[in-house]
Amino acid sequence: MRDILHYPMSEFGPAIHGMVIGGVGILHVFVAQFAVGAGGLLLWLERRAGRGDELSRRFLDGYFLFLVLVSFVFGALTGVGMWLTAIQVSAPTIGTMVDEFHWLWAAEWCCFLLEVVSGYLFFRYRTRLGHRTRTTLLAMYAVSSWLSLFLIDGILSWQLTPGEWLATHSVVDGFFNPSFWPSLVYRTLVAWTLAALVAVLVSHLVGGFTAEERRGLQRRIAPFFAPMAVMPLVGLWFVAVLPADSRGWLFGGSVAMTMFLAIAVGASTLLGLYAVVGVLWRRLTLDRATVILLLVLAFVATGAGEFVREGSRKPYTVREVLYSNAILPGAVLRLREVGCVTDDPYPLRGELPPTAQLGTGAKVFRAQCRVCHSIDGANGVLHLTGSWMPDQIRMNIAKLQHTKPFMPPFAGTPAELEALTQWLLWLRAGRPDRWEPATPAEVERRIAAWLEEAGPYAAEHARKGGR
Ligand code: HEC
Repeated sequence: MRDILHYPMSEFGPAIHGMVIGGVGILHVFVAQFAVGAGGLLLWLERRAGRGDELSRRFLDGYFLFLVLVSFVFGALTGVGMWLTAIQVSAPTIGTMVDEFHWLWAAEWCCFLLEVVSGYLFFRYRTRLGHRTRTTLLAMYAVSSWLSLFLIDGILSWQLTPGEWLATHSVVDGFFNPSFWPSLVYRTLVAWTLAALVAVLVSHLVGGFTAEERRGLQRRIAPFFAPMAVMPLVGLWFVAVLPADSRGWLFGGSVAMTMFLAIAVGASTLLGLYAVVGVLWRRLTLDRATVILLLVLAFVATGAGEFVREGSRKPYTVREVLYSNAILPGAVLRLREVGCVTDDPYPLRGELPPTAQLGTGAKVFRAQCRVCHSIDGANGVLHLTGSWMPDQIRMNIAKLQHTKPFMPPFAGTPAELEALTQWLLWLRAGRPDRWEPATPAEVERRIAAWLEEAGPYAAEHARKGGR
């Protein structure tokens, strides 16, 4: 394999790549998980309808319409959006995932197809079908949508905890990786909660139900809130299987990550308390405003939770396989000799800097830093290095993985590092037309010594003595 694969890099202005994929991802996950939970809930209501419960039957049809509108249309659009965004954000990452798991992706698409077909048949013919056929279609819908969660969960959790796969490269080891079960259980519980919340909301939105009937409906839906009670335990289980360094980011190692974890835990706790104490124990009826508020809490918890899950992979997109900037860990040493942008064929966008060295610096930034840093927007590198002396910049970049352990090691030549430094200083100076730095010859030797000291491994490997 080549040391570095050059793909055209998308620019997202002041945003960084994680924010873009994260934004689309959170919307998609939220809607997709609702659709999975809805499968179970519909089946449950149909069973009651089969026993003669007219209210369940009336409600089921209204809820189903809502599900089709929201989840089929929005879920499918954001699903395709995920592919488009994933390619824009990191083609090598999604490429690795497709390489490794193509049969699982194919199986996942089959499940989605089955989900759409059974859902559509139900939608089209539900009024004319008997209870048994309705049950069969809904069961197909529920099972296939949950199976697509099952399959995706294996692939996504592999990115965070590839486990045994690192040694065996067996698809089974990769799929049933250490965080597979806790995240599958967690996501299933979330799916049920979302389905129940949306059901209560729908009972307010579609007309034709008296207050008494809405109360009755909520009692029928209530069992889907019950699993919230064990959510904290599943959360702990998930944290327990995380690698120590990822866990470290969550508990104080990274301020942003700790803050988002607190938001996720706080929002889920409020939601869980309301569901368990209010709905199940005190049997309060959720009014429209309350259920909307609870859904907002659920959205916040999902968003913060996905942020934490994505963030705790740093400095990797696939742990120990690919760094966040798509550089292979094993290629770092060679790139320090041959350079990371030597054969980068893509021109810089916009106005070119006045010297070739500055152009190289800009390309090094694009290749190694841009995924996580903007220039002066989100995680802006100008702001972060704002007060640093030139040598401080050089040393901290040369020792990148020790400067902050969630950054990968620097993977370029000392000359490239100096070019990056000059580019940062030039930007700081307000992009003057002329830039002729007097860089003493021994600067590159100093940089080389710092790179040597830092070593070519990610911080947690350096601590363990490398691999
Ligand atoms: C995997 C994502 C990632 C990559 C790749 C990355 N960084 Fe960072 N970097 C971060 C994060 C996150 C921070 C923490 C920001 C904060 O503390 O607010 C950070 C902090 C920094 C800081 C401030 C350090 C300090 O001690 O205050 C500098 C400077 C920096 N990065 C430069 C770079 C440069 C230059 C590159 C490319 C060679 C790079 N980073 C690549 C994620 C990354």
